[in-house]
Amino acid sequence: MSPLPWMRRKLGRFSVSGTAKIIVWRSTGGTHLPQAPGVTVRKISVEDVDQANSMDDDSTVEYLHSVMRRGYHAWFAYCDGIVVHRSLLLPGPEAYHLWHHWATLHIPAPDGLILGCATHSSYGGRGIYSAVLAMIANESSWLGKWGFTETSNVASQRALIKAGFQPNHTLTVRAWHGLGRTVRGAA
Ligand SMILES: CC(C)(COP(=O)(O)OP(=O)(O)OC[C@H]1O[C@@H](n2cnc3c(N)ncnc32)[C@H](O)[C@@H]1OP(=O)(O)O)[C@@H](O)C(=O)NCCC(=O)NCCS
Repeated sequence: MSPLPWMRRKLGRFSVSGTAKIIVWRSTGGTHLPQAPGVTVRKISVEDVDQANSMDDDSTVEYLHSVMRRGYHAWFAYCDGIVVHRSLLLPGPEAYHLWHHWATLHIPAPDGLILGCATHSSYGGRGIYSAVLAMIANESSWLGKWGFTETSNVASQRALIKAGFQPNHTLTVRAWHGLGRTVRGAA
Protein backbone atom coordinates (compact mmCIF):
# COMPACT_ATOMS: atom_id res chain seq x y z
CA MET A 1 0.00 0.00 0.00
CA SER A 2 1.24 3.47 -0.85
CA PRO A 3 2.26 5.54 2.19
CA LEU A 4 1.25 8.79 0.43
CA PRO A 5 -2.42 9.15 1.60
CA TRP A 6 -1.31 8.50 5.18
CA MET A 7 1.49 11.08 4.90
CA ARG A 8 -0.84 13.61 3.26
CA ARG A 9 -3.26 13.22 6.19
CA LYS A 10 -0.47 13.61 8.74
CA LEU A 11 1.01 16.66 7.03
CA GLY A 12 -2.42 18.14 6.29
CA ARG A 13 -3.05 18.79 9.96
CA PHE A 14 -0.15 21.26 10.01
CA SER A 15 -2.09 23.50 7.62
CA VAL A 16 -4.92 24.00 10.14
CA SER A 17 -4.92 27.42 11.78
CA GLY A 18 -7.70 29.53 13.21
CA THR A 19 -9.78 30.50 16.19
CA ALA A 20 -13.25 29.25 17.02
CA LYS A 21 -15.57 29.85 19.91
CA ILE A 22 -18.18 27.15 20.09
CA ILE A 23 -21.25 27.05 22.30
CA VAL A 24 -22.43 23.56 23.22
CA TRP A 25 -26.17 23.28 23.89
CA ARG A 26 -28.43 20.63 25.41
CA SER A 27 -32.15 20.03 25.74
CA THR A 28 -34.30 17.25 27.14
CA GLY A 29 -37.37 18.65 25.37
CA GLY A 30 -40.50 20.33 26.66
CA THR A 31 -40.78 23.16 24.13
CA HIS A 32 -43.37 22.91 21.34
CA LEU A 33 -43.22 25.25 18.37
CA PRO A 34 -45.72 25.29 15.52
CA GLN A 35 -44.20 24.49 12.14
CA ALA A 36 -44.43 27.16 9.40
CA PRO A 37 -47.64 27.08 7.31
CA GLY A 38 -47.49 24.52 4.49
CA VAL A 39 -44.45 22.74 5.95
CA THR A 40 -44.46 19.08 7.00
CA VAL A 41 -41.59 17.30 8.71
CA ARG A 42 -40.81 13.62 8.78
CA LYS A 43 -38.03 11.30 9.82
CA ILE A 44 -36.59 9.87 6.64
CA SER A 45 -34.87 6.64 5.65
CA VAL A 46 -31.91 6.10 3.38
CA GLU A 47 -34.19 5.68 0.30
CA ASP A 48 -35.36 9.30 0.73
CA VAL A 49 -31.91 10.89 0.90
CA ASP A 50 -31.74 11.83 -2.81
CA GLN A 51 -34.74 14.15 -2.32
CA ALA A 52 -32.28 16.55 -0.65
CA ASN A 53 -30.99 17.47 -4.12
CA SER A 54 -33.66 20.22 -4.09
CA MET A 55 -31.33 22.13 -1.75
CA ASP A 56 -28.01 20.30 -1.62
CA ASP A 57 -25.25 19.69 -4.17
CA ASP A 58 -24.15 16.18 -5.15
CA SER A 59 -21.29 15.96 -2.66
CA THR A 60 -23.59 16.93 0.24
CA VAL A 61 -26.16 14.33 -0.85
CA GLU A 62 -23.33 11.76 -0.95
CA TYR A 63 -22.30 12.87 2.57
CA LEU A 64 -25.92 12.34 3.73
CA HIS A 65 -25.87 8.82 2.26
CA SER A 66 -22.59 8.01 4.01
CA VAL A 67 -23.74 9.20 7.45
CA MET A 68 -27.09 7.39 7.13
CA ARG A 69 -25.13 4.19 6.42
CA ARG A 70 -23.18 4.88 9.63
CA GLY A 71 -26.33 5.03 11.77
CA TYR A 72 -27.27 8.73 11.80
CA HIS A 73 -30.95 9.69 11.85
CA ALA A 74 -32.37 12.44 9.61
CA TRP A 75 -35.47 14.59 9.33
CA PHE A 76 -36.56 16.45 6.20
CA ALA A 77 -39.01 19.35 6.09
CA TYR A 78 -41.09 19.57 2.91
CA CYS A 79 -42.85 22.57 1.38
CA ASP A 80 -44.20 23.09 -2.14
CA GLY A 81 -43.33 19.45 -2.90
CA ILE A 82 -39.59 19.73 -2.24
CA VAL A 83 -37.17 19.29 0.67
CA VAL A 84 -36.59 22.69 2.27
CA HIS A 85 -34.73 21.68 5.43
CA ARG A 86 -32.64 18.82 6.79
CA SER A 87 -31.42 18.00 10.28
CA LEU A 88 -29.35 15.01 11.39
CA LEU A 89 -28.84 13.26 14.71
CA LEU A 90 -25.83 11.19 15.69
CA PRO A 91 -26.76 8.79 18.51
CA GLY A 92 -24.38 8.30 21.43
CA PRO A 93 -22.14 6.88 22.66
CA GLU A 94 -19.89 8.80 20.31
CA ALA A 95 -17.01 11.25 20.35
CA TYR A 96 -17.56 13.96 17.75
CA HIS A 97 -14.98 16.52 16.64
CA LEU A 98 -16.74 19.88 16.70
CA TRP A 99 -13.71 21.75 15.34
CA HIS A 100 -11.04 19.46 13.88
CA HIS A 101 -9.67 17.28 16.67
CA TRP A 102 -9.24 20.05 19.24
CA ALA A 103 -12.88 20.36 20.30
CA THR A 104 -14.39 16.94 20.91
CA LEU A 105 -17.83 16.36 22.38
CA HIS A 106 -18.45 13.04 24.13
CA ILE A 107 -22.09 12.10 23.77
CA PRO A 108 -23.24 9.44 26.25
CA ALA A 109 -25.44 6.49 25.26
CA PRO A 110 -28.94 7.81 25.96
CA ASP A 111 -28.20 11.13 24.24
CA GLY A 112 -27.77 12.29 20.65
CA LEU A 113 -26.02 15.13 18.84
CA ILE A 114 -28.00 17.25 16.37
CA LEU A 115 -25.85 18.38 13.46
CA GLY A 116 -25.82 18.97 9.73
CA CYS A 117 -28.87 21.26 9.87
CA ALA A 118 -29.66 23.54 6.94
CA THR A 119 -32.66 25.32 5.44
CA HIS A 120 -33.15 25.89 1.69
CA SER A 121 -32.03 29.47 0.98
CA SER A 122 -35.49 30.45 -0.39
CA TYR A 123 -37.26 29.22 2.75
CA GLY A 124 -35.13 30.81 5.52
CA GLY A 125 -36.53 32.97 8.30
CA ARG A 126 -39.92 31.19 8.48
CA GLY A 127 -39.18 29.35 11.74
CA ILE A 128 -38.64 25.97 10.02
CA TYR A 129 -35.31 25.21 11.75
CA SER A 130 -36.53 26.35 15.19
CA ALA A 131 -39.61 24.11 14.98
CA VAL A 132 -37.58 21.11 13.73
CA LEU A 133 -35.12 21.54 16.61
CA ALA A 134 -37.96 21.64 19.15
CA MET A 135 -39.50 18.55 17.54
CA ILE A 136 -36.24 16.56 17.68
CA ALA A 137 -35.66 17.68 21.28
CA ASN A 138 -39.00 16.07 22.14
CA GLU A 139 -38.09 12.71 20.54
CA SER A 140 -38.25 10.03 23.22
CA SER A 141 -35.61 7.74 21.67
CA TRP A 142 -32.83 9.89 23.12
CA LEU A 143 -32.67 11.59 26.51
CA GLY A 144 -30.51 14.66 26.01
CA LYS A 145 -30.16 16.25 22.61
CA TRP A 146 -26.93 18.17 22.11
CA GLY A 147 -26.22 20.90 19.60
CA PHE A 148 -23.31 23.23 18.85
CA THR A 149 -22.83 26.58 17.18
CA GLU A 150 -19.97 28.90 16.53
CA THR A 151 -20.71 32.22 18.24
CA SER A 152 -20.80 33.87 14.82
CA ASN A 153 -23.85 31.80 13.79
CA VAL A 154 -26.54 34.11 15.20
CA ALA A 155 -29.44 32.46 13.33
CA SER A 156 -28.57 29.07 14.74
CA GLN A 157 -28.26 30.38 18.31
CA ARG A 158 -31.62 32.15 18.11
CA ALA A 159 -33.22 28.98 16.82
CA LEU A 160 -31.70 26.83 19.58
CA ILE A 161 -32.88 29.27 22.26
CA LYS A 162 -36.40 29.41 20.79
CA ALA A 163 -36.46 25.60 20.67
CA GLY A 164 -35.68 25.41 24.41
CA PHE A 165 -32.00 24.45 24.26
CA GLN A 166 -29.74 25.77 27.00
CA PRO A 167 -26.03 26.53 26.77
CA ASN A 168 -24.08 23.75 28.50
CA HIS A 169 -20.47 24.92 28.06
CA THR A 170 -18.22 26.74 25.62
CA LEU A 171 -15.05 25.60 23.89
CA THR A 172 -12.57 28.14 22.62
CA VAL A 173 -9.99 26.75 20.21
CA ARG A 174 -6.86 28.50 19.05
CA ALA A 175 -4.88 26.61 16.44
CA TRP A 176 -1.75 27.57 14.58
CA HIS A 177 -0.30 25.30 11.92
CA GLY A 178 -1.46 22.12 13.61
CA LEU A 179 -0.68 23.18 17.17
CA GLY A 180 -3.84 23.89 19.10
CA ARG A 181 -5.17 24.74 22.52
CA THR A 182 -8.76 24.40 23.74
CA VAL A 183 -10.19 26.18 26.77
CA ARG A 184 -13.47 24.94 28.20
CA GLY A 185 -15.68 27.61 29.73
CA ALA A 186 -18.90 27.82 31.67
CA ALA A 187 -22.10 28.37 29.71
C1 LIG B 1 -29.10 28.43 10.42
C2 LIG B 1 -30.26 28.03 9.51
C3 LIG B 1 -30.41 26.48 9.58
C4 LIG B 1 -31.54 28.71 10.03
O1 LIG B 1 -32.64 28.16 9.33
P1 LIG B 1 -34.06 28.91 9.32
O2 LIG B 1 -35.08 27.88 8.94
O3 LIG B 1 -33.98 30.15 8.52
O4 LIG B 1 -34.22 29.29 10.86
P2 LIG B 1 -35.46 29.99 11.55
O5 LIG B 1 -36.39 30.56 10.52
O6 LIG B 1 -35.99 29.04 12.55
O7 LIG B 1 -34.76 31.22 12.24
C5 LIG B 1 -34.09 31.10 13.43
C6 LIG B 1 -33.74 32.48 13.93
O8 LIG B 1 -32.64 33.00 13.18
C7 LIG B 1 -32.99 34.24 12.59
N1 LIG B 1 -32.34 34.28 11.30
C8 LIG B 1 -32.63 33.56 10.20
N2 LIG B 1 -31.76 33.87 9.23
C9 LIG B 1 -30.90 34.79 9.76
C10 LIG B 1 -29.78 35.47 9.27
N3 LIG B 1 -29.35 35.28 8.02
N4 LIG B 1 -29.13 36.32 10.09
C11 LIG B 1 -29.54 36.49 11.37
N5 LIG B 1 -30.60 35.86 11.90
C12 LIG B 1 -31.27 35.03 11.09
C13 LIG B 1 -34.50 34.24 12.51
O9 LIG B 1 -34.99 35.55 12.45
C14 LIG B 1 -34.85 33.51 13.78
O10 LIG B 1 -34.76 34.33 14.92
P3 LIG B 1 -36.04 35.06 15.53
O11 LIG B 1 -37.17 34.11 15.48
O12 LIG B 1 -35.60 35.43 16.90
O13 LIG B 1 -36.30 36.23 14.62
C15 LIG B 1 -30.05 28.48 8.04
O14 LIG B 1 -29.76 29.86 8.03
C16 LIG B 1 -28.93 27.72 7.35
O15 LIG B 1 -29.18 26.73 6.66
N6 LIG B 1 -27.67 28.19 7.53
C17 LIG B 1 -26.51 27.54 6.95
C18 LIG B 1 -26.16 26.24 7.68
C19 LIG B 1 -26.06 26.44 9.18
O16 LIG B 1 -25.54 27.42 9.69
N7 LIG B 1 -26.56 25.42 9.91
C20 LIG B 1 -26.57 25.41 11.36
C21 LIG B 1 -25.27 24.93 11.86
S1 LIG B 1 -25.22 24.94 13.63
